[in-house]
Amino acid sequence: MSVESSVRAVTTLRLTEMKRRAEKIAMLTSYDYSMAKIVDAAGIDVILVGDSAANVMAGYETTLPITLDMMIYHARSVVRAVNRALVVVDLPFGTYQGNSKVALDSAVRIMKETEADAVKLEGGAEVMESVERILSAGIPVMGHLGLTPQSIHKFGTYNVRAKEQAEAEKLLHDAHLLEQAGCFAIVLEKIPADLASRVAAEVSIPVIGIGAGGGVDGQVLVVHDLLGITQDFSPRFLRRYADLHSVISTAVSSYVGDVKSGSFPNKQEQY
Ligand code: KIV
Repeated sequence: MSVESSVRAVTTLRLTEMKRRAEKIAMLTSYDYSMAKIVDAAGIDVILVGDSAANVMAGYETTLPITLDMMIYHARSVVRAVNRALVVVDLPFGTYQGNSKVALDSAVRIMKETEADAVKLEGGAEVMESVERILSAGIPVMGHLGLTPQSIHKFGTYNVRAKEQAEAEKLLHDAHLLEQAGCFAIVLEKIPADLASRVAAEVSIPVIGIGAGGGVDGQVLVVHDLLGITQDFSPRFLRRYADLHSVISTAVSSYVGDVKSGSFPNKQEQY
C-alpha cells in the first residue's frame, strides 16, 4: 500500500483549511466496526473513538474505568471500517496525567496498535508537558476543555463549566496554550456559547463544540445519543435525529412474538 492510499481523505491539515474557509466540521463518536462504516459512508469528517465508550458500550457510570486496552480494541474495530474520516482516539483516564513519559507510551500504543490518525486528551496547563511530549513524537493531539468528564470527582457535577470569570479566563488561556503547543484542534464541552465563540475567534485551529453553541467551527455528539439509542441522557444541547430505541425494541418484541407463535421461520425461510 502506498503512503497516499493509507492516508484517509480527511487530514488534520484539511480541518485547518475548513476552518479558514468557514466550512463547518461534523464529528461523531463510534466504537465499533458496523457503526463506524455507516457513519463514515454518510460523510462525517471526524470520528472520535471516545472514552464515552465506558458509558454507552460498557455501562459504567463515569468514563474513568475504561482502560487503554479497551480503547485500543474499540479503535481497531473503527479504523478497519473507515475510508474517509479522520479517526481520533481518546487517551483514557490515568494514561497521560502526571507523567509525560507514560503519556507518550500510551499515545504510541494507540497509534501503533490501531492505525488511528490522532489522540485526544482532557485538560490545559496541567497536562501541557504530556501534550508537548506526544506532539514531539509526531502524533497529532486534539485538546479538550470545559466539562472534562475524566475530572468528574474533582468537580462533582456535569453542569455547565466556565460560567465564572476566573474559570472562563483560565479556559481561554488553556486554549491558547494548546494552540501554541501545536494541537490541531480543541473540543469545548458544555460552556457558555459566547465564551466558545470567543475561543474559536481567537485561535487559528478548529474548535469543535458539544453544548458550546453555534459560534464554533464544528460540532460533536455521541452517536448513541444522536440516534436515540440512549434514553436516560437528555441535556439541552442534544438533538435526537432518530428514535432507534423504539425501532429496536419494536423489532425485537416482534421477533420474540414470531418465535413463540411459531410463525418464524416460515416455509420460504428454511432449506
Ligand atoms: O468521549 C467522548 O465521547 C467525548 C465527546 C463527548 C467529545 O469526549
